[in-house]
Amino acid sequence: MAEVTIQIDGREVTVDAGMNLIEAARRLGIMIPHFCYHPGLGVDGNCRMCLVEIEGQPKPAIACNTFARDLKTKDGVRPVHTVSPKVKEWQRAVLEFLFLNHPLDCPICDQSGECFLQDYYMANGQYVSRLDTPKLHKRKVVDIGPRVKLDAERCVLCGRCVRFCDAVTGTGELSIVNRGNRSEITSFPGLPLANDYSLNTVDICPVGALTGSEFRFRKRVWLLSSTQSICTGCARGCNIYLEHAEGLAYRYRPRENMEVNTYWMCDAGRQTFQPLNEERLEVPEERGKEIPIFEALTRAAQWVNEATGFTGGATEGGRFAGGSVTGGNSAGGNSAGGLSGCAAGGERDGSRVLVILSPVSSQETLFAAKRFAAEILGGAGVAGIGTRPPGVEDKILRKADPYPNTAGLALLGLARDPEPELAKGGRLLVIVEDDPLGERQRPAWMQHLAGWERVIYLGVNRNATSAAAHLALPVTPHSECDGTYVNFQERLQRFRKAITPRGDALWAPELFRRIAVAADPGIHAGRPFGWLSFNALWKDLAASEPAFAGTEVAKLGGVGQTLVTRAAGSAIDGVGDAAGGPAPREA
Ligand code: SF4
Ligand code: SF4
Ligand code: FES
Repeated sequence: MAEVTIQIDGREVTVDAGMNLIEAARRLGIMIPHFCYHPGLGVDGNCRMCLVEIEGQPKPAIACNTFARDLKTKDGVRPVHTVSPKVKEWQRAVLEFLFLNHPLDCPICDQSGECFLQDYYMANGQYVSRLDTPKLHKRKVVDIGPRVKLDAERCVLCGRCVRFCDAVTGTGELSIVNRGNRSEITSFPGLPLANDYSLNTVDICPVGALTGSEFRFRKRVWLLSSTQSICTGCARGCNIYLEHAEGLAYRYRPRENMEVNTYWMCDAGRQTFQPLNEERLEVPEERGKEIPIFEALTRAAQWVNEATGFTGGATEGGRFAGGSVTGGNSAGGNSAGGLSGCAAGGERDGSRVLVILSPVSSQETLFAAKRFAAEILGGAGVAGIGTRPPGVEDKILRKADPYPNTAGLALLGLARDPEPELAKGGRLLVIVEDDPLGERQRPAWMQHLAGWERVIYLGVNRNATSAAAHLALPVTPHSECDGTYVNFQERLQRFRKAITPRGDALWAPELFRRIAVAADPGIHAGRPFGWLSFNALWKDLAASEPAFAGTEVAKLGGVGQTLVTRAAGSAIDGVGDAAGGPAPREA
């Protein structure tokens, strides 16, 4: 598309001829006030908040519906002003009109602190009210849908919510009814705002007219910190902001990524932050009894050595604290004396050891587990599949695969059903994350556990699997560490640490490294577990795993990077489809 160099507030910018002035000004860091325009919904031109002055043009122009090409004349390109005295006067007039019947609600409005109307008023709208008649009142605290509340008298009638339901979900629940100052948003009788993406209307409502039923009044937004993250609700991996305070996650909001989720996320995905706060495994447990982390690491290392028949490491020479675990397994009634078939000296035999992984884990955790199985568990079997029931897939964002990293598991060559090996039994079973033994997953696997002398679980939450394990070790969820997932497009996407780890929870690769070092202090200086940081681990991962060769994770940026061109025969064929994010129809 042809480009045009235009001038806004005395500064030049070169943009596509078809770009509107709101977006062109944004390129210069200039925010033109607006309500009805949204890049995901297109131009509507109804609010008149975006008025700008164009030299040589006598009337104000709306920036949302004025495009760079419109500024060209035969004599050149007309300069634009967004903060001139005339523009300020026009903006004050529009704001005065919008405030005629707006309630004085800011102190009790949950949008306060992230409200366009409040911001514009504080910047430019301050005046003494000239209204000498009572304000018109409208409906408040209306359950317009199961997850959204409407306060009709706060609405500025921008129509964004209506257009979202028409253009993005195609469900059309909302409309504007009545005339003049009695106009208001409503849902059609018998058709509540209940589509699977309804909370996006809360995000795009520029004022406090639509608020989320669950989040409202739980936290003042200026007390929240915002961290770039990834939704773990399905294989799409929508880009999000994880918003948190005082160690708790409060909400997810969509983060723009035109290749993955455009501007939106689904309502179900927004609920997936709950396990970050609730039912956390914070302290190691041995058969349900809390034990200190050093004791848990010692125990794990000893079991690893015994199961692999390793006698060149920590089980010799009383390296374990106070010899507290000598005599074997205090966990399951299995006697260490009953373990047999030890390999000699420093050799490890992993033939009776199994590691079960889950596509819920980050790429770093999967890689560390694979390395642990190879180096410390004597080449033990390592495999994983998703055990949760498939979710609902739609044509907008949601994928049936309910895991964030199925592709990452496949790209490490580990995606296979571990059940045949699980059913055989053995000496040590290590289950990493998720809850495969849970009621809604594979409870049938529980009976296979009887065939295993010892079971170690590494996980975020207390659940059926942690309860069934002899030893449960807490690891950090994606809110408490840096990491990556590979979504169904084979796009590697990064999430950032937002919250300080709870209790004794450790980054899973660090937990593997500590067990490895405890099991064999000689490994400390060696290459296999040399990584102490996210970047160091990635250097190793990119050098070791062909699918990730050359990946520079530090350069991923906020929107990630596609690993391979998706083609027939890809490691993740059948996991998802090749389509990118939804393309919202223009309003
Ligand atoms: S409810 Fe919000 S998004 Fe919908 S028209 Fe009113 S102000 Fe706009
Ligand atoms: S579509 Fe999937 S990744 Fe996106 S918000 Fe929903 S559950 Fe999360
Ligand atoms: S944003 Fe331009 S008229 Fe509403």
